[in-house]
Amino acid sequence: MKFDEKKKRIISSAMKIPGLYEEEELNYLFYIVYENKGRGVIIELGSLFGRSLYVLCEIGKGTDLSNFYDTFNNDSCYTKFHQIMKSVNYVVSIDYGFLPEDIFSKSLPMSEYDSGFRSIRKMSLKYPNLISIIGDSSSLSHLFLDSISILHIDADHSYKYLKKTMRNWWTKINVNGFVLFHDYGKYEVTNFVDNLIKQNKKVIQKIGLRKSLIALKKKHDSQLIF
Ligand SMILES: C[S@@+](CC[C@H](N)C(=O)[O-])C[C@H]1O[C@@H](n2cnc3c(N)ncnc32)[C@H](O)[C@@H]1O
Repeated sequence: MKFDEKKKRIISSAMKIPGLYEEEELNYLFYIVYENKGRGVIIELGSLFGRSLYVLCEIGKGTDLSNFYDTFNNDSCYTKFHQIMKSVNYVVSIDYGFLPEDIFSKSLPMSEYDSGFRSIRKMSLKYPNLISIIGDSSSLSHLFLDSISILHIDADHSYKYLKKTMRNWWTKINVNGFVLFHDYGKYEVTNFVDNLIKQNKKVIQKIGLRKSLIALKKKHDSQLIF
């Protein structure tokens, strides 16, 4: 299937999943993820019903490892193995899986969240490249090695959460990897991202913005200043 047809099919299916992600944003998300296929693990913080997650999983799917068999008796076997492992394009979704009282009272009824989590569980069965983790996404970075190509942040939109998230995840992201923030222009995301760029000019760089999806690139391994 041609690139444009594939993209159209994936985006139109994603738009049928409940969520606030807009079509133009999904197109930009698709473009960045597609361009960076095979460069490391993709992490999504905040999946809800899985609209954006669906795009991440669809791009990475399709590598069948069930017939992989090797004796690993020379170096080229290892190279081949590592290439295959990369092409699997692992996607990791981290979401609460339950709702703390304060969000619950302000936002959707619990039943909606229940069905959200059921839909992520269904996606885990459908996509062998998807790992779903339930927990506080700002503090689970210790589970990962430093091989993240894309960190997509769409969970809690408070300044405090974003700062904790960036502090904890930053060292795990590859140089030339991406940090994507959804809802830039809303809540405290704008202020946080603007300050982040201003205070870390040599380390992190704005790559693009489509509606409320902003893409930043990690240029250097230095620590971030907040
Ligand atoms: C805006 S929704 C995600 C929307 C989703 N990306 C989409 O495409 O529709 C935010 C989600 O993040 C979850 N969330 C909020 N704070 C979180 C935290 N600290 N850790 C894990 N999940 C969190 C919420 O439960 C909710 O499911």
